[in-house]
Order: sequence, then C-alpha cells, then structure tokens
Amino acid sequence: MCGIVGYIGFREAYPILVKGLHRLEYRGYDSAGVALIDDSNKLSVLKTKGRVQDLEEYARDKNTTGTIGIAHTRWATHGEPSNANAHPHYSQTESLALIHNGIIENYSVLKAQLVAEGYTFQSSTDTEVLVQLIEYIKKLNNCDLFTAVQLALNQVVGAYAIAVIEKGNPNNIIAARKSSPLVIGLGEGEFFLGSDASPIIEYTNKVIYLDDEEIAIISRDKEPKVVTISNIQKTPEIKELEMNLSELERGGYPHFMLKEIFEQPQTLLNCMSGRINVEGTNVTLSGIIDHKDKFVNARRILIIACGTSWHAGLIGEYLFEEFCRIPVEVEYASEFRYRNPVINPDDIVIAISQSGETADSLAAIELARKAGAFVYGVCNVVGSSIPRNTDSGSYTHCGHEIGVASTKAFTAQVTVLTMMALAIAKEKKSIDEVTYVKLIKELQHIPSKIEQILKLNDEIKKLSLIFTYAQNFIYLGRGYNYPIALEGALKLKEISYIHAEGYPAAEMKHGPIALIDNEMPIVIIGTNTAIYEKVVSNIQEIKARNGRVIAVINEGDETIKALADHYIEVPHTEECLDPLLSCIPMQLLAYHIAVNKNRDVDMPRNLAKSVTVE
Ligand code: F6R
Repeated sequence: MCGIVGYIGFREAYPILVKGLHRLEYRGYDSAGVALIDDSNKLSVLKTKGRVQDLEEYARDKNTTGTIGIAHTRWATHGEPSNANAHPHYSQTESLALIHNGIIENYSVLKAQLVAEGYTFQSSTDTEVLVQLIEYIKKLNNCDLFTAVQLALNQVVGAYAIAVIEKGNPNNIIAARKSSPLVIGLGEGEFFLGSDASPIIEYTNKVIYLDDEEIAIISRDKEPKVVTISNIQKTPEIKELEMNLSELERGGYPHFMLKEIFEQPQTLLNCMSGRINVEGTNVTLSGIIDHKDKFVNARRILIIACGTSWHAGLIGEYLFEEFCRIPVEVEYASEFRYRNPVINPDDIVIAISQSGETADSLAAIELARKAGAFVYGVCNVVGSSIPRNTDSGSYTHCGHEIGVASTKAFTAQVTVLTMMALAIAKEKKSIDEVTYVKLIKELQHIPSKIEQILKLNDEIKKLSLIFTYAQNFIYLGRGYNYPIALEGALKLKEISYIHAEGYPAAEMKHGPIALIDNEMPIVIIGTNTAIYEKVVSNIQEIKARNGRVIAVINEGDETIKALADHYIEVPHTEECLDPLLSCIPMQLLAYHIAVNKNRDVDMPRNLAKSVTVE
C-alpha cells in the first residue's frame, strides 16, 4: 500500500528519495512522486502515474536539487491512478506539499467547507483536502506550519501518516501518524522518514516509531521533537532496527518470492531458535510463560487475521483444539470488527499478521481490548503497530518479507502457533509427555524436510507448464490440510490471476463437483494419515468425472500415485505438522505458473503488501 519517504540533511535528497521509493515498491502502488525545496527555497512537485522508473524518466530534465524532500508511492483509494491523483499534493497557493497514507473519512465535509471558502481542487483525492485545510488554517490563524498541521488533524476523522514541507522553509519536515505507520531514522546531521524501515536501513539503524496522534517536527540540525495533536510533549524512544540490508536484495534469485520460498528452512530455524531447549525436548515462549494463568484458564481462543494469516489461524484452530482442548473461533478481522461480537474477559484473542499494520486487524484488536480480552500478537515486523497494541505476543522472526504473496511469513506463523499450542498444552497438562517431546523433536526436522521438498523445484516447474493455460483450479484438502487448500488457491489466484478455489475435500460433493470435467485441474493434498482413505475416495470421485488430479502425497504412496494424473511426493511427518510441508509445493506451483504467464510475481496487480486501509 502507499509508501512514504522523507529526507532532510546535508546530501542531495532526490537520489535518496528515489532509492527509498524503489525499496518501498514491494508494498504495491500505481503512481509515484517527490517534492523538493531547492537552494533558492523554491518548492517543486514532480509526480506521475506508473512506476518509480517512470518518475525518474519524467524528472530526468527537471530541477531535482535540494537537501530536503518528501516522496510517495500511491495505491489508489479515492480516485483512479492518474498524474493528478498522484502524491505529493500542493496546497492552493503551492506553498505546501503533502504526502499521505491512509484515508480521511470526513474529507467530503471538509472539502465542501473549503470549496465554500473559494478553494479549488486538482484531484479527486482525500489527501488534497488535507493539504488545503492546513493552508487554510495557517492563513486564518497566521500560525506556523506545525500549529496548522496540529489544528487540521484535530478536524480529521480517519487514518493518516503524513509528511508536509513548505516553500521558504527548508529546515523542517512536519510528519504525523494515526493508524498508519511512520518511522523516523536518525543519522548524523540528517534524518529520514519512512512508512516502514526499508528506505532507512542503509543509512541508520536508529529509529523512532511515531505513535497514534503524534506529530514530529524534523529539523535539519536538531533531534526530532514529538508533540501530540492535543499538544502534549512526548519524549521519543529511540529503538534499534533488527533488519539488515541483504534482506532487501534478491540475492541472485529472479524474484523475491522465490528467494523467500527457498529461505524457509532457515527462517523456521530462526523462528524456533532460543525457544526450544538444546536437548530439543521443551518449548518456551516468554509471551506464554509471562501470562500462563491466562492461557491455562482461557475459556475460548478467538483468532483474528486476514488473508494468508487467517489461513495460518485456521491451522491454529486445529492445533489449539487438539492439544490444548480450548474451543477456538477463527475470524476475519474485517467481519469481527463490525458484527458486535461476544467477547468475554476470559477470552484470549490471538491476532496474526505479517506486517503488524493491517488496518482491520488493528481495529479488531482495539475492540477486543476494550471488551477486556487479553490480546496476543503473532507478528513478523518488529516494532509494528500490532505488537505495540497487544498485551503480549511472539514474533515470527522470518525477516523482511518483500514478495507480496506471503510465503515464509506463513510457515513461520504456523510454526509459532504450533509452539504456542504445545507450550499451552504442557501448562494445562492436556498433552502427555511422550507426544509433547515427539512433536517438538519432529518440529525440528521440518526445516530439513522442507529442504528436501525444495529439491523438487525443477519437477514442479515442469508440471507448471502443463497447467499454465488452465482457466480455473480447485484445491482440496482435509483436516490440517484444508487450510492449505485455501492457501494454495489464494497463492495461485493472487500472482497468476487464474481463478482458483479451495475447499475441504468432502465439501466437493455439495456443489463444486459440478465444475469437474476434463479441463479442470484439481490439486488435492493427500498426505494426512488419519483420513487417508477418505481422501483416496475423493480422488476416485474426481477421476470418475475425468478431472485432472495433481496430488501432493507422502513418499512411497503407491495408491494415490496410481490414481492421480500427476503427483508431488513429500516426506512423512506428524499429522499436525503436515501443513508446513504440504504448503511448499503449493507455493512453488503458483510461482512457476505465474512466471510462465509473465506475471509481475513480486508485485501482482491491485495488491498491496501491507493493507493499512480497511
Ligand atoms: C497473501 C497475503 C495477504 C496477507 C493479508 C494480511 O499472500 O499476503 O492475504 O496475508 O493481507 O496481511 P498481514 O499478515 O500483514 O496482516
């Protein structure tokens, strides 16, 4: 989703801003722009629909000098992708330029008031309303830019991360946030701004995360000052970033997605590191230990998430119910937040999110906390909003995920949920010691088993060629592998744009079976042992209708091999750990089909990495 970069210091700002915009491309966007103040204090805005590269092309023969500037990649919300709707937006007299992530919900009311005051608008965005409002307030009150921003934000309903600069004022960037992240990087005599840390990390690892309703005055020669919109002075806490630069590079892979798929053996080791004892017999999560009574006495677990993280949550449901004997409900955050849910003080709410910034998940958390529930975050991005707004949690520690289609974050989420289920079950004494130790030992073998599956990459690539031009796909799985059917279908549709649906295999008879003919590829996960015979029956039903079966099976499964048109063999593991293996062929199949179709794998159309608007 939209990206923000800012710079103020002693270097030329433009190359830093453009490099930062490239670093933010992974978030998904449709236009890009910069605003700079040059040495003669002139403020100029350069912007265009399209890629950052198009912006560079457009700016080639323009003045891009200046040591202060702000830049933006836009993901359209109000108004189509166009040059006029791209950010930065000027105010009426072109004395201010502003960039904005988020949505100003009351923009039409504010716009009507400004129109009545004689303001005209160049774009259909909510953002232009905000910059005009700031200029209007500044004139009306004859105040400085900071005060005008503060007064304006008090009139705004909605979500924002903004940065504003002013003609004739080359020494200040004013930045503010509410429900949309903003990070300030502290260098030596220079400061950076980012909607996440990726444009900042190559210059400094010292950062300040702004909190909701905080405004920062970032001046050329002093530490940033932070004040709330209600005028309370804050002492900003300086944090150290854990991310490193190599995480932002492709490292020889053609796409970030493939790199991230191949990183999984290591990312799962990182995820388990320090949480499983050296003997490999015990799992400790500090977030659980610190609140063990809450978990032991929990009457219910509510899992809230979106997209792929929601699929991880479904696996969590199977895990917590099987091992902890706690009833679980898995909810889409967007539905949960609006349906007046019953939340009890002895419920535990687990929010799962890679980015830690998903707007619906954040709102659902707020609702749960207001109702008195204990909220536990399972997030990847350290210091993001969800971990900062939950009572406790566990990071997934899989490093920066850049491919829009989530892969390594998903397996790390499932690994954390598995460790949580085992740790809680141990505390509750709802698991016997032998099973507990057996599962922990097997969990530690998962990275090397994934390594084995990754060796099938060429085989899966060949298979992908047969199905590249299919119009539709069905994915089926049962038990722990039902969420993997959903995830496999989601991976395929989001990066290849092929229509795909995931179902619990037995549901096929209740509708989807009507779709099966000799054109329909059906990916079926047949690795579960407990209901293996039932999966075999489902395959027979598909073959009886001439469907084309691609089966993910356990090594040496001659029965399904004989029935399926194609098969991918994966190593055996414990039933509850199966999703960690069966999802890998799903990721690779989707990846190769998308590459065959020449799709923009890392930045699929219309999608955003971090969904910071609802
Ligand atoms: C799909 C994908 C999305 C995200 C969803 C939630 O590959 O990445 O479906 O899972 O937007 O995002 P987070 O996990 O950041 O809350």
